[in-house]
Amino acid sequence: MPCPALPDGFDFTDPDLLQSRIPFPEFAQLRQTAPVWWCAQPRGITGFDDEGYWAVTRHADVKYVSTHPELFSSTANTAVIRFNEHITREQIEVQRLIMLNMDPPEHTRVRQIVQRGFTPRAIRSLETALRARAHRIVEEARENTAADGSFDFVTQIAVELPLQAIAELIGVPQEDRARIFDWSNKMVAYDDPEYAITEEVGADAAMELIGYSMNMAAARKECPAHDIVTQLVAAEGEGNLNSDEFGFFVLLLAVAGNETTRNAISHGMHAFLTHPEEWERYKRERPATTAEEIVRWATPVVSFQRTATQDTELGGQKIKKGDRVGLFYSSANHDPEVFEHPEVFDITRDPNPHLGFGGGGPHFCLGKSLAIQEIDLIFNALADALPDLEAVGDPRRLRAAWLNGIKELRVRVPG
Ligand code: HEM
Repeated sequence: MPCPALPDGFDFTDPDLLQSRIPFPEFAQLRQTAPVWWCAQPRGITGFDDEGYWAVTRHADVKYVSTHPELFSSTANTAVIRFNEHITREQIEVQRLIMLNMDPPEHTRVRQIVQRGFTPRAIRSLETALRARAHRIVEEARENTAADGSFDFVTQIAVELPLQAIAELIGVPQEDRARIFDWSNKMVAYDDPEYAITEEVGADAAMELIGYSMNMAAARKECPAHDIVTQLVAAEGEGNLNSDEFGFFVLLLAVAGNETTRNAISHGMHAFLTHPEEWERYKRERPATTAEEIVRWATPVVSFQRTATQDTELGGQKIKKGDRVGLFYSSANHDPEVFEHPEVFDITRDPNPHLGFGGGGPHFCLGKSLAIQEIDLIFNALADALPDLEAVGDPRRLRAAWLNGIKELRVRVPG
């Protein structure tokens, strides 16, 4: 279906576009006129033969695709919609070892095992340590401001807690954490030239992290302990992950749980700075609905993709077997069919059926409860210890194909 409002070749996954803005007006046009729209990707940089993808922009359609893995596969193609120019077939094959890129029944088996580490009890058990950590992060930022009282919120506040949470979850000893954090940061940064991280550096970091995790798994198999690694790799009588699978699982956590949560926290701060009345309300009432609204508002993961396993229909369009389908969570989370005044940042929004953690199918975010806990803890700590932060200029956005990222957000503690 043609969409007269959008020029040919308009590409929602163009990193240059996502660096400057989220294309909300274009999403709104599509939701109304062509909710499932063929988006040509003419630059031939996907590493595949196809020449584009279907952009799915309505909440209902994103949910439908997510909950029908038999029609829309995660394996046939990787989950991230656009690759950088130089990615090789081998690298794509390796990505298939990550559960995000698996289909049932392989995915079901791995998911059932790793879920043991993400029970409500397991997540609650991290709360005390993470609360203390959140307070320490905020205190340190307060003590290390520049002469004018300013500091970068992203590097000083948003970066650390998500990494600490993952390290805490899998029991990485304190002395190894700096290395783990370094590898994780290198892996997520390569899309943005400013970080000057080459693909080789990113790939090496991934291999080091996998190797480290495989050693951890091997050690627990030899000598079981009362920790999550033991539960995943060495529990008696149930299915277990082998050491390779554990290595790739930790790799996924380091990507899926790191940059996403970091950006939710940074965007949350930016939303509060630009909506001071909501920050006042937060400080007074601390609504339990806040973190979900931050994730809806920010939608750190702009899109993931699936591939059609057979000819089918979606939003009135004929989708052919092998066609790629892009799920635009950013658009779904602003769909007025579902959200009253979607453009309003309302920390008491309830219900809030946003798709920031996915459309509810088998791949629904495994770390949602942990992410919500981290966001709550950091804003609680900020409201207690740095309640009057002011913005200094505009945030600088990350250049990325599927992430809504902020790489710098300068703030100031008033004198
Ligand atoms: C999957 C978003 C934090 C672990 C996903 C998906 C999204 C997402 C959109 C894909 C869902 C789908 O395809 O249906 C987010 C956001 C986060 C966040 C916005 C922070 C605000 C975390 C954290 C962890 C985590 C903290 C763990 C430490 C995972 C894993 C998957 C996943 C393992 C793959 C699940 C599977 O394939 O079965 N996340 N995530 N995420 N997330 Fe998160």
